[in-house]
Amino acid sequence: MKSQGRGGRGNAVVLGGPAGSNLDGGIARELGAELVRVHLRNFPDGECLVKIPQSIRGRDAVIVQSTYFPQDTHIMQLLFLADTASRMGARSITAVVPYLAYMRQNKSFADGEAASISALLKVLYASGVDSLLTVEPHRSDALFAFKGSKLILNPIDRLMDPVSKNIRRPFVLAPDKGSLERARVAATVLNCDYTYIDKERNPVTGEVSMRDAASGNFEDKEIVVVDDMISTGGTIALASRFAYSHGAADVSVAAVHLLMCNSAYNRIRHAGVSRIYGTNTIPYENAVMVDLSKEISELLEWR
Ligand code: R5P
Repeated sequence: MKSQGRGGRGNAVVLGGPAGSNLDGGIARELGAELVRVHLRNFPDGECLVKIPQSIRGRDAVIVQSTYFPQDTHIMQLLFLADTASRMGARSITAVVPYLAYMRQNKSFADGEAASISALLKVLYASGVDSLLTVEPHRSDALFAFKGSKLILNPIDRLMDPVSKNIRRPFVLAPDKGSLERARVAATVLNCDYTYIDKERNPVTGEVSMRDAASGNFEDKEIVVVDDMISTGGTIALASRFAYSHGAADVSVAAVHLLMCNSAYNRIRHAGVSRIYGTNTIPYENAVMVDLSKEISELLEWR
């Protein structure tokens, strides 16, 4: 795909996977590439069958498939698609996996535990994927096990576009030290101060507690909590309560991946979060969503 300029992607074909529909159309449009939606059949025993409904021989295939819940099903579909594209003679295969599951299992945290993301990336490469593009992979070293080329989009600055339109006295808060760099980038866009909360997760119970903010004064500020993902909403709920208890006037949250498990939405709202901002790496209805088609396509084009 390197030699062709913007709007001239005659050879590229975007294969929209069963979990790719929130981004595949936009990416194909931005690339000026043909969009082919993959066919899917589910059998009574739970097995699935994917089908690429036309020839892709000699073409640069861009598979778009996110791996949100049910993660394992979406992962299998991705692997089947990559292997099929390879057998059908695609010239190159790029997997765009906007939300890459298992990123938080990036090492064995205890003896005998799987380093799941490492296993997944090895299989993905073996299935014929030459290049992998993903968005905000929790930690920058999470993709080390993938042997092909890697493209990472960190869209926290883009996520601040709608935030900046709704807020006048911003202050950016990272719910833990791991999110500090995101907070720095967000605060640069919003032109305001930022800090992080000293968060602790009990390794046995998984329970999270928040001790103190590293610096800053939340008094009368509109706090924007930034994070890579919202899963159960526990982290954001705690951060929100923490901010209000330190004088915040309002709390909103901006997170790249909205997994929103179980009753995450209610948990967050009950903690006083007034608005949720996210991106379309995962489809979700109760938030202000930022479309990343353009940013993903630009990354594909300029590699
Ligand atoms: C933790 O390291 C992550 O960056 C997120 O803060 C965490 O995964 C969010 O999970 P939950 O919504 O369940 O608190």
